[in-house]
Amino acid sequence: MKKLALVTGANKGIGLETARQLAQKGVHVLVGARDLKKATAAAETLRAEGFSADPVALDVTKSADIAAAAAMIGEKFGHLDILVNNAGIMVEGDWSVNESATLPVAKIRETFDTNFFGVIELTQALLPLLAKSDAGRIVNLSSILGSLTLHATPGSPIYGTKLLAYNVSKTALNGFTVHLAHALKDTPIKVNSAHPGWVKTDMGGESAPMELADGARTSVELALLPADGPTGGFFHLGDPLPF
Ligand SMILES: NC(=O)c1ccc[n+]([C@@H]2O[C@H](COP(=O)([O-])OP(=O)(O)OC[C@H]3O[C@@H](n4cnc5c(N)ncnc54)[C@H](OP(=O)(O)O)[C@@H]3O)[C@@H](O)[C@H]2O)c1
Repeated sequence: MKKLALVTGANKGIGLETARQLAQKGVHVLVGARDLKKATAAAETLRAEGFSADPVALDVTKSADIAAAAAMIGEKFGHLDILVNNAGIMVEGDWSVNESATLPVAKIRETFDTNFFGVIELTQALLPLLAKSDAGRIVNLSSILGSLTLHATPGSPIYGTKLLAYNVSKTALNGFTVHLAHALKDTPIKVNSAHPGWVKTDMGGESAPMELADGARTSVELALLPADGPTGGFFHLGDPLPF
């Protein structure tokens, strides 16, 4: 039987490419997008390429969407093997400015609603279905910009990129990865954070050095980890990153 994956924010960017690469590996992919039309278009794109995909309307900040998606997956499939928490936002525009002294708290809350609280609420709703898989895998799309260790280390590659809302939301997300992995340590479910690299997408921008095909690789590797693979870690292309 095919494995079943849900990828959030899969209508474009790293999410769509992750869905494509999982489907290439024989996984049936549920393509999540906050707009049903976008989810349907993305699923149709994958089907036209010969892959197995269905659309799911899912805004990760909406409890009703989360409950409906969990109910639909439960009724139609009865389990879930892979959850890729890919949806994410960055409200900061200028990466060279540190707005920590002035950034409105509303912007920070907005970022956390998607990048942190949405991930927790969706993951908790889907855990009973992931528990029915013999190899449940949860991948949280973090960023090297969430590494508190590197932010506190003068001279590190990200030391000068202090985007308070985005970075700290990913730091908190990494905290969820570590805590949830510990809670599930006696189960087959593995939970890891992924740094995809700096990837050419609407978020990453044109100057990003990585193409989409490589940008999805870390998520796909962590989604398909073998039974002896790691849990509670933070990785980029197989290499560990400091939290
Ligand atoms: N690109 C990079 O260099 C890079 C580096 C490190 C980490 N990341 C992380 O990788 C992930 C994917 O990024 P990307 O570069 O592919 O970004 P992107 O092209 O901007 O795509 C983001 C996706 O998330 C969706 N999304 C946003 N808010 C959502 C919500 N409330 N509910 C459901 N979906 C929502 C977007 O949907 P709409 O189309 O409806 O807006 C879109 O599908 C993010 O978590 C990002 O933080 C990216």
